[in-house]
Amino acid sequence: MNNKIKFAVIGQGHIGKRHAEMVRRNEESELVAVCDVLAKESLELNDLKEPFYNTVESMLQVHPEIEVVNICTPNGLHAKHSLLALDAGKHVVVEKPMALSKNDCETMLFKALQKNKNVFCVMQNRFSPPSVWLKKIVEEKIVGDTFMVQLNCYWNRDERYYKKGGWKGTQELDGGTLFTQFSHWIDLLYWIFGDIKNIQAKFNDFNHSDLTEFEDSGFVNFDFINGGMGSINYSTAVWNTNLESSITIVGSKGSVKVGGQYMDKVEYCNIKDYELPNLDPTNEANDYGAYKGSANNHPQIISNVIDTLKGRNTITTNAMEGLKVVDIIERIYSLRKEDRKS
Ligand SMILES: NC(=O)c1ccc[n+]([C@@H]2O[C@H](COP(=O)([O-])OP(=O)(O)OC[C@H]3O[C@@H](n4cnc5c(N)ncnc54)[C@H](O)[C@@H]3O)[C@@H](O)[C@H]2O)c1
Repeated sequence: MNNKIKFAVIGQGHIGKRHAEMVRRNEESELVAVCDVLAKESLELNDLKEPFYNTVESMLQVHPEIEVVNICTPNGLHAKHSLLALDAGKHVVVEKPMALSKNDCETMLFKALQKNKNVFCVMQNRFSPPSVWLKKIVEEKIVGDTFMVQLNCYWNRDERYYKKGGWKGTQELDGGTLFTQFSHWIDLLYWIFGDIKNIQAKFNDFNHSDLTEFEDSGFVNFDFINGGMGSINYSTAVWNTNLESSITIVGSKGSVKVGGQYMDKVEYCNIKDYELPNLDPTNEANDYGAYKGSANNHPQIISNVIDTLKGRNTITTNAMEGLKVVDIIERIYSLRKEDRKS
């Protein structure tokens, strides 16, 4: 008997293939099987060595040895697939966002507690050195009390990304720009500064009316429960290529800005009696050809699952944190209706 942790992956699209590869590459894990509703050939999986299934149920039935199931299906299916895996007594690694409603996240959380299984949420940007550094300088009050935090997420997502007939851009399976493109940054905001209240927002759809069922841009502002105020300014209407994902913090002892396309570079640091330490380089962004995504830190996700299940570490992003990000986005989006009326 080997003591490798046995994984299966549901969804063999862009990110599902990456999960499968990261599981294969880790010497403490083994990929048992993968599953997708599409035919293996259409997914370019002709060289796949592991068994392939077209339904989650058949895969789980044939392979009781599976211990962890990675959910890499469209956002609107995360809850359903996680519940199938948890019901079968498996741990779950769920891609971001955890689900598309707080209600669904709660159902997943309760099921995990009942079954005594873990839910690992994929928020791999937490592993980027600038994110770890930001958390430290805020938590240890190196930057002082938080006055203002500005999150700018200006990306390009156009017809090269939103394909007719696909799930991206639909309300039901995608859910919106904040869920699919920017939940990583909202996770960082929550992870570093905590929960928000007194949310105000305005939204606009500049050039996505033929591509998506929701807005492409918004200005959101709020207070942090822990003090200070913040804003999220976001858009996918940027022409041609991503502009930036940046965070600017104005604190009582100094100011910092982390920028780049996916918060990968410290652009400004001016803090009383403090010198910026040398940070390790950030991993490259996920490259999808015409467009780029977030940091490619998926190997750390798989390592964290293994370390947690072997009792060597704790979960980087647990189900409660995954739920909070969905809750924050849901509260922001609940203002869509009001914004339309005024
Ligand atoms: N963490 C990150 O940086 C990151 C990056 C990209 C995508 N994602 C997330 O990963 C998920 C998948 O995104 P993607 O870009 O890989 O999408 P994709 O469309 O490339 O892949 C999704 C796959 O799921 C399959 N699928 C759909 N319904 C299914 C079902 N009922 N059973 C089994 N398979 C089913 C589809 O056929 C498709 O192959 C999304 O939730 C997305 O938000 C995360």
